[in-house]
Amino acid sequence: MASVPSLASSVNQRVADALASALPEAGGADPLLRRSDRADFQANGILALAKKAKANPRELATTVVEGIATGELIREIEVSGPGFLNITITDRAIVETLAARAGDDRLGVPLAANPGTTVIDYAQPNVAKEMHVGHLRSAVIGAAMVEILEFTGEKVVRRHHIGDWGTQFGMLIQYLMEHPHELDHKSDEEVSGEEAMSNLNRLYKASRGLFDSDEEFKTRARARVVDLQAGDAETLALWQRFVDESKIYFYSVFNKLDMDIQDQDVVGESGYNDMLVETCKLLEESGVAVRSNGALCVFFDDVKGPDGNPTPLIVQKSDGGFGYAATDLSAIRNRVVDLGATELIYVVDARQSLHFKMVFETARRAGWLGDGVKAVQLAFGTVLGKDGKPFKTREGETVRLVDLLDEAVDRATAVVREKDKERGLLTEQEIVENGLQVGIGAVKYADLSTSAARDYKFDLDQMVSLTGDTSVYLQYAYARIKSILRNAGDRSPVAHPELELAPAERALGLHLDHFGELIDEAAAEHAPHKVAAYLYQLASLFTTFYTECPVVKPEPELVVGENRLFLCDLTARTLSKGMSLLGIRTPEKL
Ligand code: ARG
Repeated sequence: MASVPSLASSVNQRVADALASALPEAGGADPLLRRSDRADFQANGILALAKKAKANPRELATTVVEGIATGELIREIEVSGPGFLNITITDRAIVETLAARAGDDRLGVPLAANPGTTVIDYAQPNVAKEMHVGHLRSAVIGAAMVEILEFTGEKVVRRHHIGDWGTQFGMLIQYLMEHPHELDHKSDEEVSGEEAMSNLNRLYKASRGLFDSDEEFKTRARARVVDLQAGDAETLALWQRFVDESKIYFYSVFNKLDMDIQDQDVVGESGYNDMLVETCKLLEESGVAVRSNGALCVFFDDVKGPDGNPTPLIVQKSDGGFGYAATDLSAIRNRVVDLGATELIYVVDARQSLHFKMVFETARRAGWLGDGVKAVQLAFGTVLGKDGKPFKTREGETVRLVDLLDEAVDRATAVVREKDKERGLLTEQEIVENGLQVGIGAVKYADLSTSAARDYKFDLDQMVSLTGDTSVYLQYAYARIKSILRNAGDRSPVAHPELELAPAERALGLHLDHFGELIDEAAAEHAPHKVAAYLYQLASLFTTFYTECPVVKPEPELVVGENRLFLCDLTARTLSKGMSLLGIRTPEKL
């Protein structure tokens, strides 16, 4: 593994050095290098530094330029405007840098100098309930963040904080106790996710019906909650059956999503039960939480209800029960102390932002979140229907995730089949496999290509469209490059740094070189949508390159052809790596 410094970082270093000798008090200052339309890069930082040092910006810029040698790396550097620098790289430096990237499995992307441990809380559906589009968002965004962070060298611990605890289980367990065979499986049959969910739905409806109509059942169900909380063995065993049945369903959905969820990472709300009493005790003893009408509460100056009265975070209810907040606070203690987290990320719906704000603040006051630990909610917006309202079925019910995914795959398969009609490239089996990868990719990409905080419209027509900012556009770009490489005859990809590059080759090359920096940015800002935007631009730059620079036909001169094939190859590898970070597959033939 050899990491390759980006052209931007090498140029930045040269400019910073020249700046430091021209203006010693600016030593170590960042010249603020950016990609530019006028040259390859522009350095914008000199202006402000000159002003601060009461120097003339143009004069300072001129001295800096005089201190920079042109040649191997920099072809041209000049002062522009009031004190910017325009910098053009040599063609040789571009091709040599890309060749070094091509020689490395990680495309030359360096590992972080000081990686930490991130605990990421994502893909957290609720036991005995159907998964909905919100759970899809958490799973898709969370999985992408895991991949992006791991690629930078961060240690990542996954936590699926499933909703597996609460008073609703009293009713379910009591019902199952009174109808003991309702969740039995025939020993020789494997239960599908669909069946598991339909069993749970049936039990939920039946127990709910009894609970609402039969006072005596209601009393027994409430007593069952007490038994559950007291850890009664028989009650716990029945609770476990609900969890297990739900997991069959969850795993089937995650599997459909082509997502790897490991059992040891599923630590639901119940996983923190043993800590709850202690969490409350510590909060009360330290004075962070106080008793108010019997409940244990934490108050905040800036959190008030509509009536103007402060709204507390309730850690323990007046009846002694613990809720969502006590669990999350205990989870923080576990993640920081036992798992050694330096960062906590919660991929959760923006509608829970107040909860997390209060939980994080409480944990800070209690000393569980020290200065060295960051806690962030990667909050995501709502999935909307075509009408711009929260996504519901025509009957106003939440849309079943499985149905959506199946429909996406059906549509994608139709698109792949139709497109293949012109070419007859694929076998029926390949059409089906590609349909899966295109359909699931479409759903993930639609979610990941806008910034998480924004709402987005779930529009399958748009998602599987072959043009525009879609995953299938990127998948086709990838497959097309692979086909170019397959059909290149006896020519192979070889970098030729001695060649002069066309503008489209330079633009593509500089973008390829930017991949590592982009990943750092996406990791630091928790912004998978930046990876999507990068890849879309990569595919667009490739299209321009391919239109303007013949690769195979009309056949260019040997070295030119080889160098272009080399650019094709590195583009394909970068596309596929980037897509894999988003959890999207890139079929070789499409
Ligand atoms: N199960 C919750 C829901 O469906 C999400 C859990 C989020 N994670 C957490 N640590 N509270 O809304």
